[in-house]
Amino acid sequence: MALPNTVRLFEMGARDGLQNEPGEPISTAIKIELINRLSNTGLSNIEATSFVSPRWVPQMADASAVMAGISRQPGVTYSALTPNLKGLEAAIAAGVNEVAVFGAASESFSQKNINCSVAESIERFTPVIELARQHNIRVRGYVSTVLGCPYEGDIQPEKVAHVCDLLYQLGCYEISLGDTIGTGTPLKAKHMLEAVSKKVPVSQLAAHFHDTYGQALANLYAVLEEGIAVIDSSVAGLGGCPYARGASGNVASEDVLYMLNGLGIETGIDLQQMIATGHWISAQLGRRSGSKVALASPCQAVK
Ligand code: HMG
Ligand code: MG
Repeated sequence: MALPNTVRLFEMGARDGLQNEPGEPISTAIKIELINRLSNTGLSNIEATSFVSPRWVPQMADASAVMAGISRQPGVTYSALTPNLKGLEAAIAAGVNEVAVFGAASESFSQKNINCSVAESIERFTPVIELARQHNIRVRGYVSTVLGCPYEGDIQPEKVAHVCDLLYQLGCYEISLGDTIGTGTPLKAKHMLEAVSKKVPVSQLAAHFHDTYGQALANLYAVLEEGIAVIDSSVAGLGGCPYARGASGNVASEDVLYMLNGLGIETGIDLQQMIATGHWISAQLGRRSGSKVALASPCQAVK
C-alpha cells in the first residue's frame, strides 16, 4: 500500500508525557502553558490530562484546573483519559471535547494499570461509552502492550486483535495501538497490525509507540506502509507509563514531523513551533529534550 498523503498527529506530551514525572508535582501553570503552546503549532488533537485516581497518578491530580485554565483554540480537540464513570463525570464537568478509555492486551498489565482484568475493564467501559454518547462526546480506545508486556513478554497478535475488536464494538471511534514499553520492531508491528486490521478497519486505528529501544520511527514507517494515518507522539519525547518500569517516552513529535515532512506527508503542523515548544518544556523540567531533531536544531524562539 502507498504511504498516506496526510497524517493526523495526536499530541501526548501533556498527558502521557507528564504523568510519569518523578518528584514534585509539575505546576498547573506549566501544564497550561504547555498546552497553550502546543495549541499554536497547528495540532488538531491534544490529550490534555487524565481524570484518574490521584493516588495512582499524582501528576494528573489537577486535571480539572488544567482544563479550566487553557485557552482553547478553534479547530483543536482537547481530550482526556477517563477510566471509569467517576472520571468521565469529572471530564464532562471540565468541558473536555473527547475522552479515552484505556485497556490492555495483557492481563497482568491490565491489573497493574487499572486494577481489573481485561474482561472487567470492558464491563467498566460500557457505561462510560454510553454516558459519553449521551453527551455527544467521542470516545477513543487505547490498547496497551500490543507489542510486548513488561510482565508477560510477547503478546499474541490475535489477543491484541480481540481486545481492539471489543473496544471498537463498544463504540470507540478510533483504537490506538500502544507499544507501551517500546520493544516492538518493524516486522512485529506489521504482523500485529495485520491481525488487528481483520477486526478493525485500518482507517480507525492509530499508532502509539514508545521509543525505549529507538525503534519507534522504524515501526511507524512500517505501519504507515500498511495504511495507518494517525500517530500519537509526545513533544520532546516526554513520558512513560507509571506501570511499565523502564519504559521511556512516546516517540518525539518533532522527530515524527521531520520524518513526515521528508516523506512529503501533510500534517498541518509547524515543525519549528513544535521544536520551540519542546525546548521550552525541556527547560521547564530541567532536562535535555528526547527529540534528536530538536537537539540538532538550536532554536531562538524559546521565551
Ligand atoms: P481502584 O482503586 O480499583 O478504584 O482504581 P476504586 O473504584 O476502587 O476507587 C478507589 C479510590 O480511587 C476511591 O477513592 C475513588 O473515589 C478513587 P477513596 O474513596 O479511596 O478516597 N477514584 C478516582 N478518583 C479520581 N478520578 C477517578 C477515580 N476513580 C476512582 N476517575 C482506577 C481504579 C482505574 C481508578 C485506578 O486504577 C487508576 O486511576 N488508574 C490510572 C492508571 C493510569 O492513569 N495509568 C496511566 C495511563 S495509561 C497509559 O499511560 C498507557 C497509554 O499511554 C497507552 C500505552 O502507552 O500503552 C494510554
Ligand atoms: Mg503511552
